[in-house]
Amino acid sequence: MMLELKNITKKYRKGEEIFTVLEDVSFVLGKGEFLSVTGPSGSGKSTLLNIIGGLIHPDAGTVLFEGADVYESSEKQLSRYRKENIGFVFQQFHLMPYLTLYQNIKLACHKPSQCLQIETLIKKCSLSSLKNKFPSELSVGERQRAAFIRAIISEPVLLLADEPTGNLDPDNSTVLMSLIQEFNSNGGSVIIVSHDPGTAKLANRHISLHSGRVAIY
Ligand SMILES: Nc1ncnc2c1ncn2[C@@H]1O[C@H](COP(=O)(O)OP(=O)(O)OP(=O)(O)O)[C@@H](O)[C@H]1O
Ligand SMILES: [Mg+2]
Repeated sequence: MMLELKNITKKYRKGEEIFTVLEDVSFVLGKGEFLSVTGPSGSGKSTLLNIIGGLIHPDAGTVLFEGADVYESSEKQLSRYRKENIGFVFQQFHLMPYLTLYQNIKLACHKPSQCLQIETLIKKCSLSSLKNKFPSELSVGERQRAAFIRAIISEPVLLLADEPTGNLDPDNSTVLMSLIQEFNSNGGSVIIVSHDPGTAKLANRHISLHSGRVAIY
């Protein structure tokens, strides 16, 4: 199995209080699968994506990728895991503020052939006239589309997308979803947090989080 989560638990401490964000979350994802994740605000969706993406250590449980324990590896291996396998569309985008839209995407390319795709994707996402602007000069939806292109430009094995259409108008949302579908039909695996019923239809599997537990498979 490509990705296996086994009994993932994550807690945060605030003073004396311990707050459990994820409890005993387990599921598997095969290559080419498309999983959608829903759940109320605060149910742990972003935390879950961050754990899968190699960014937040769980307190208990294991994340296996191609059979290897992601969090048992060295920092160097962990960063290689992120770089080689994961494309991440963060809920807050996390574009580099001092790089232009184009430079943000270019930075994520691993091969010259990937850089050649930038212009095409920028055009598809109606960003051509904005490519030399800095993130602070862009609307939220424009930043979100730029963050999306950055996530797929390196042709990752697994795309983790945190509400990637949350700020988009219907037309841009349709373009982005068709790019995700294309990514998926070319063999890429997808985990998407989305409340959009259209997205759920594209996914071939679904889980719902409730108070940090998987409520619906
Ligand atoms: N670094 C942190 N320190 C303390 N608590 C945190 C931290 N990160 C997240 N939490 C808490 O964990 C819970 C889950 O957060 P998370 O961001 O995963 O929720 P979410 O399901 O993505 O919500 P939303 O739909 O609003 O994006 C929240 O109650 C949040 O306050
Ligand atoms: Mg979130």
